[in-house]
Amino acid sequence: MPNSDTDFGVPIPGRILPPDQWAKTAIKRLPPPGPLDWPVLFGRDAPVVLDLGCGNGRFTITSALARPELNHLGVDILPLVLRYATRRANQRGLANVRLAAIGGYELLDQYVTPASIAEIHVYHPQPYQDTRQHHRRLITPEFLALVRQCLAPGGLVVLQTDNPAYWQYIRRAAPLLFDFEELTGPWPDAPQGRTRREIYARRRGLPIFRGQGRPKPQLPPERIAEIIRTQTAPDFDARRPNRGR
Ligand SMILES: C[S@@+](CC[C@H](N)C(=O)[O-])C[C@H]1O[C@@H](n2cnc3c(N)ncnc32)[C@H](O)[C@@H]1O
Repeated sequence: MPNSDTDFGVPIPGRILPPDQWAKTAIKRLPPPGPLDWPVLFGRDAPVVLDLGCGNGRFTITSALARPELNHLGVDILPLVLRYATRRANQRGLANVRLAAIGGYELLDQYVTPASIAEIHVYHPQPYQDTRQHHRRLITPEFLALVRQCLAPGGLVVLQTDNPAYWQYIRRAAPLLFDFEELTGPWPDAPQGRTRREIYARRRGLPIFRGQGRPKPQLPPERIAEIIRTQTAPDFDARRPNRGR
């Protein structure tokens, strides 16, 4: 079947298979809170990659195609975008993908066993410009500590935004918990963008800020608690001009 699926003209990778080869990637209803059993969820035991705020699923799908040996769970709070992600992943027969409607914080807090995840990706979390919505921003000291707690030793976190003020916040907070490096230049695996929002931002000439890190080894629990207690919440002005670099 021809693949007419694109993000701003950039094709979604993969081939649409005949219907008898489609996968079932939607988790229609999550179980009550408690540790998810990854081998049961995916039908096999493999390292798990999380995409928090996966939107239309472009990163999850691309990564699942390129790395069939990894299990991928994408989550988002918006059912509409998840429908796109699910259809695309199903049609590509991606048995190593699951998609669920839940917030990123809630997933980590309520469902993920500590030290069980290989990679956690967050691409373009909503900056929420309206001050009344600031409390909804995903990346907070508590969230970063949860990411750290869920990652296996040596696991990878990837954070990306096109909002300069959000990046300024992230680049201050993330290195407290992770050996964190800022990355420059396009992703080698996806020069036009790993996600729909990245492709859109590039088209608009917006700056893209990205970094990745691994949990700092030997950080005592008291130090992590202190970081959570003392670091400011992300209450920056998201409309501030470019001060992120
Ligand atoms: C700007 S879009 C980016 C989507 C995708 N990651 C990309 O880069 O194209 C932000 C996404 O995060 C979702 N979102 C907002 N708050 C969230 C939360 N607390 N947990 C999970 N997803 C969230 C939104 O529904 C939206 O799909």
